Amino acid sequence: MSKLTTDPRPSHEKNAEITMAIPEKGIARDAILSELRALKQDDFDWRGGRLPSYTYYLDEKTLDLQRDAYGEYISENALGAGRAFKSLEIMTNDIKAMSKSLFHAPAGAGASFTSGGTESVFMAVKTARDRARYERGEPHGRYRIVSCVTAHPCLDKAAQLLDVDVIRTPHDTEFRADADLMRAAIDERTIMLYVSAPNFPFGTFDPISKIGALAEETMLWLHVDACWGGFLSPFAERLGYPVPLWDFRVPGVTSLSADIHKFGYAAKGASIIIYRSSEIQQFETFSFSGWPRGTYVTPTFLGTKAGGAVAAAWAVMRNLGMEGYLRAARETMEATTKLVAGLNAIPEIKCLTPNGESNLVTFVANDPALDIYAVADRLEAKGWFRGRMRDPKGIQQGVNPAHLPVVQDYLKAVREAVAFVKAEAIRDTAYDERSY
Ligand SMILES: Cc1ncc(COP(=O)(O)O)c(C=O)c1O
Repeated sequence: MSKLTTDPRPSHEKNAEITMAIPEKGIARDAILSELRALKQDDFDWRGGRLPSYTYYLDEKTLDLQRDAYGEYISENALGAGRAFKSLEIMTNDIKAMSKSLFHAPAGAGASFTSGGTESVFMAVKTARDRARYERGEPHGRYRIVSCVTAHPCLDKAAQLLDVDVIRTPHDTEFRADADLMRAAIDERTIMLYVSAPNFPFGTFDPISKIGALAEETMLWLHVDACWGGFLSPFAERLGYPVPLWDFRVPGVTSLSADIHKFGYAAKGASIIIYRSSEIQQFETFSFSGWPRGTYVTPTFLGTKAGGAVAAAWAVMRNLGMEGYLRAARETMEATTKLVAGLNAIPEIKCLTPNGESNLVTFVANDPALDIYAVADRLEAKGWFRGRMRDPKGIQQGVNPAHLPVVQDYLKAVREAVAFVKAEAIRDTAYDERSY
């Protein structure tokens, strides 16, 4: 890896000068809580549907349950699940069982609860690497993962940390992985094929059945990144949306990751990684004995793990039930359909996706004179946080139930932003590198 020439940190971190020390005398609780609320004033209004991702808001009832369940276990540490905290082991096992059944995992599947999509993907890469090193008798073997250019960067983060190389193949004209290009990229060092269900930039599903067959033929590990859609797709499928097969019903799938803290409506810090067989999970575990205290074993990357995140996920999954998740999916998909129809009715822009498969929408300028990033800037100035897409230039956004009541307001804001950018003849706004 080459040395970075510019400081890539987000501006809020670069500007973090030391302006505060721990106060000599503590500040009263009420004052602190008012400060916390005041600090939020300039944040985007996620309850009001102004955020395209980061938050996944269903309703106040679910939020209250998250908060209360998290609070019950705020000090408990899932590092001690099973020993100090039998409760956390029970809840973790329940979450694993509910997730396995939702994703049609076969009997004998293994799973781990993690802190998020990044950690789930990290564990998939680590487990596949360590299994390959064991099977090939290469304790320091360096391997490759073949993916599509649309894969989430958490794959590369994991791969960099684990000394694995990622090959990103171009997507096809429908923004899906091209199975033939992936096949052509496989070599003798390849250990894993990596697909998305769906990918974050376009919201399309890679052709997982086809790539599953390729994985079987080549005997490669196939990981499905369903971090975004894992807790939406099963319900959208039941509602009749055209969701392709992507989970353990596809025979070649070895592992899948799905975030409960996204459309599972858990508090942040909740995701699941599931392996087709618990046997391969032995390569997930970290175990170390070379210190005086004895053997230290953890299933995943984290040491201390928020007990609250486990409790909140457990509580919300059981409280919503299939019925609650179906309602959430109905609202989400309805908002997406309305949004796409409304955006496509604006002559200067057009949606590239979705096609009913997911709740991620990307729209681009239909009129070459329209500066789409200036549209994004204008929307942000009006309180609508927007994600900018680089290739092609566009605006990318996720949809959650909070968007349903404000779809028409948002469409009005887009129409106004387009008219503003045209009237002001704004051109060539640069891509904002911090726009994730
Ligand atoms: C497809 C996909 N994979 C992985 C991730 C990473 O998840 P997290 O931010 O929880 O680490 C995301 C996040 O949006 C995602 O959309």
